[in-house]
Amino acid sequence: MMEELAALREQAEAELRKAGTEEDLLNVRTRYLGRKGLLTGLLRNISNVAPDERPEFGKRCNEVKEDLSARIDQLLAGMAASKRNEGFLRERIDVTLPGRGVRHGILHPVTQVREEICRIFAALGFSVVEGPEVELDYYNFEALNIPKDHPARDMQDTFYIEDNIVLRTHTSPVQVRIMEKTKPPVRVLSPGRVYRRDSDISHTPMFHQIEGLLVDRGVTFGDLKGTLTVFLKQVFGEETALRFRPSFFPFTEPSAEVDIRCVICNGRGCRVCGQSGWLEILGSGMVDPEVFKNVGYDPEEFTGFAFGLGLERIAMLKFGISDIRLFFENDMRFLDQF
Ligand code: PHE
Repeated sequence: MMEELAALREQAEAELRKAGTEEDLLNVRTRYLGRKGLLTGLLRNISNVAPDERPEFGKRCNEVKEDLSARIDQLLAGMAASKRNEGFLRERIDVTLPGRGVRHGILHPVTQVREEICRIFAALGFSVVEGPEVELDYYNFEALNIPKDHPARDMQDTFYIEDNIVLRTHTSPVQVRIMEKTKPPVRVLSPGRVYRRDSDISHTPMFHQIEGLLVDRGVTFGDLKGTLTVFLKQVFGEETALRFRPSFFPFTEPSAEVDIRCVICNGRGCRVCGQSGWLEILGSGMVDPEVFKNVGYDPEEFTGFAFGLGLERIAMLKFGISDIRLFFENDMRFLDQF
């Protein structure tokens, strides 16, 4: 019986050495140590052993059992550990790699220019107001002294919704709306979208304007010049040369267009300024008495100036952009640069 025990042990050891998987180990355990296992069976036949050898045999059997059991536990633990390590190796991350970084959005260049202009005029005491983009003919034209037969009303230029409703073609109707409901002094700035039937390298059917209006007692053309000079030098730089050129708008009298020295060629003449050395930046003038009458202001008592400018145009000159359509294509490669 003792030899049988020794042989069984050898056999079990040999099987353990061959066991490659957890399952093999568990099978060995069942075959030798299970309730119907070989070792258990040997112990059950202890009656075949001579009585005086039984204690020794029992003891040896238990030793073998404990040894095998311990060996199997050890091998199982080893297998679990190497499985865990394989997992670690597979999922290894290189903590020295640079991170992915957080992407910040940026403001659209037109928004940046709008905010800058609003900031400059806020410092001069102007507040920001808004008006509707779908506008009555009355506010867009009539009240601004633009008569029915004026070419600006042409279907070629204006988007008509109905006979007397249009998409506003400029921000000037906001002047009228504000003056209708406030008494002077008035000092407002009104940014917003405007619409014209136009589309090429320097025109889009929708673009942005900012309107400015200041009304009080004793406002002069000198105030207009001073205010616009301060403003344009802040936007384009202190050394920027300006030119006030006589012009015409139905709602201002006198009117002036303001040019800055070409920021591209510095006055030498280039494609952008049409070889003139100057860039037209805004329209302006003293509010026409007819407009004051339409909103119930006494033109004998009050005077004022107004101006309007296109935001895309300012942004194009500031950032050196040559095609206005780029602003509205939402190509991130373009927008990311500002
Ligand atoms: N509304 C004019 C335009 O769109 C600009 C302007 C505004 C001119 C205010 C004079 C005064 O061209």
